Amino acid sequence: MSSSQYGRFYASQVGIGIKVLSAKEKKAMRETEQIHLSFGDPTPDTFPNDEVVEALALALKEEPDRVLQYGAGEVAEDLAVFLLERAAGRGMVASREQLLVTNGATEGMDLIGRIFLDPSDVIMTEAPTFMGALSVFRKFGVQIQGCEVDGDGLRTDLLEETLSERLECGEPMPKFLYVIANFQNPTGTTMSLDRRRHLLELAERFDFLIVEDEAYGELRLEGEDVPTLWALDEGGRVLHLGTYAKVIAPGLRLGWVLAAEELTAQLMAMRPGYSNGASESLAAKYCRMVDFDQRVASIRSVYRQRRDVMLEALEEHMPAGITWNRPEGGLFIWMEIPGEVDPDAFVEEAARRGVALLSTSIFYPDGVGGNGLRLSYSQEPLDRLRRAVEIMAGLLEEMLDR
Ligand SMILES: Cc1ncc(COP(=O)(O)O)c(C=O)c1O
Repeated sequence: MSSSQYGRFYASQVGIGIKVLSAKEKKAMRETEQIHLSFGDPTPDTFPNDEVVEALALALKEEPDRVLQYGAGEVAEDLAVFLLERAAGRGMVASREQLLVTNGATEGMDLIGRIFLDPSDVIMTEAPTFMGALSVFRKFGVQIQGCEVDGDGLRTDLLEETLSERLECGEPMPKFLYVIANFQNPTGTTMSLDRRRHLLELAERFDFLIVEDEAYGELRLEGEDVPTLWALDEGGRVLHLGTYAKVIAPGLRLGWVLAAEELTAQLMAMRPGYSNGASESLAAKYCRMVDFDQRVASIRSVYRQRRDVMLEALEEHMPAGITWNRPEGGLFIWMEIPGEVDPDAFVEEAARRGVALLSTSIFYPDGVGGNGLRLSYSQEPLDRLRRAVEIMAGLLEEMLDR
């Protein structure tokens, strides 16, 4: 990507949080020599191309008149059964009526916005948070208030203060709080069990819902699982979003929502079109055909190696004063740089030198905050990850000397 293309792309992200590049520009971006640390796109090395073909063939053989028709048939329905089994295996016991299979987790966010949000509403998110979620929720014209995140995830102590202040001032409570408790995008942090419990208590006390986005839930690279908010919730306050974007393929557009039965029915009623029957059918066949646990384990090992190589390179090359975290899972490292270096100027110059990445401010609901960079290790092979870190370290040294 040329620096002018990058500039345009970057401006689009900062301005409205939506990717506005044309398909041609995106293709050019992918084909360039630029090393991409910008997005958490899964590496195509993990795409099960051959098995997807086989799975689709199996589905078509079983339901030749149904798989490519509007809506979903029996084969597609087996994906729902598989998802419920897998969720139960992770402590999330739900009935069929509580599950809605969606066109990606993003459709789940949009449907949640449609049933809950009016322009005068307030919602809360972590600050920083996933910019794709910000862009979906912004479309509803709501006010988005952020709450700080540290190494243990959302600062529920600060959340409690904010909610108490809102109550004292007679301000409305948030309709919901959107949170990525596991391997957060963009910080990579995982919310501690105590804070999860505290958050659920606050939701009960101040009467708001929680939208838990678990896009990276299957991508634990080390350490012990922490129960999801859905698993800990006893009051029916959590809507849980999942996706197979990272452990099968994002192009299939397969996600889901787990929610209280009456909410799932409302979400379904809000759908503008049909479900993605062909993708659901082939995914159902794929999930039953392969050893899914083994697949997830091998995808984890790809990302564990990439994370470790990037961490080692950071350790080896970064000048003093730069700090970063060690994510237990997911696809991102969060790096903080000293105040004298402007992260936006850094990102622009890094793009000129061949490394595409994003500075932290665009992940904040108000576009302000953080002094650093989000590094994604998902897209590039090991040698290019090392090279990217060397280029960034050299540039940071120069900028710190100025
Ligand atoms: C936190 C989070 N949620 C959701 C998504 C997108 O999920 P999907 O492709 O299923 O819409 C992403 C993609 O990067 C993400 O980081």
